[in-house]
Amino acid sequence: MKVIKVNTQLEGAKLALEILSEKIAAGAQTFGLATGSTPVEFYNQIINSDLDFTDKTSINLDEYVGLDGSDEQSYRHFMNEHLFNEKPFKANFLPNGKATDLEAEAKAYDAIIEAHPIDFQILGLGQNGHIGFNEPGTPFDETTHVVDLTESTIKANSRYFESEADVPKQAVSMGIASIMKSKTLLLMAWGDAKAEAVKAMIEGDITESLPASILQTHDDVIVIVDEAAAQLLN
Ligand code: GLP
Repeated sequence: MKVIKVNTQLEGAKLALEILSEKIAAGAQTFGLATGSTPVEFYNQIINSDLDFTDKTSINLDEYVGLDGSDEQSYRHFMNEHLFNEKPFKANFLPNGKATDLEAEAKAYDAIIEAHPIDFQILGLGQNGHIGFNEPGTPFDETTHVVDLTESTIKANSRYFESEADVPKQAVSMGIASIMKSKTLLLMAWGDAKAEAVKAMIEGDITESLPASILQTHDDVIVIVDEAAAQLLN
């Protein structure tokens, strides 16, 4: 793991853009993307850059079950608003949260990943150490699957909804095994709320109870953290 400490989120996002640009220059074609507040400044940097994605493919980590892409709380909508409307890609894949057969949807999503191996995967970090929506306890060998969200994740994500009761209880998420297949992984984390998860991910045991700890075993992981998220690191 290469851990880079930056002073501000903006500095981190600019650095992430530089790394992305290098990967594109080296031939990266398929990008694994994440939602949440963490990558928003990075997506702004992409929008304001002259990078061209019209021949590139994106594959997002996850989507809420029950939300249509036109729903304002859906991750499809989030991606349109924060990136895709401004930076068109050749194709943008996200799981279909409205699929009637969610198991079949998960299988189909794995086939998409199989057909478009991810060169560069962006990750945020849940306060409980989740990546994508792989909650603590998710087997490391899991591929795309339907997830029951934990109370802590529902609470953390309720800030985007009118009330906690409106947060979907399930999601379709790429699994840890799918994420680990990506050639390069770039995880960003900002703020005090992530400090404990960052420490456990980097310095703790590799354990399914802290999903992001598996990243210690990947040979090309870059972690960009601000001072607050890095405060507990030795
Ligand atoms: C959600 C997403 C994750 C994201 C996490 C952290 O649970 N599924 O992909 O990393 O939240 O969110 P934030 O970046 O808003 O802190």
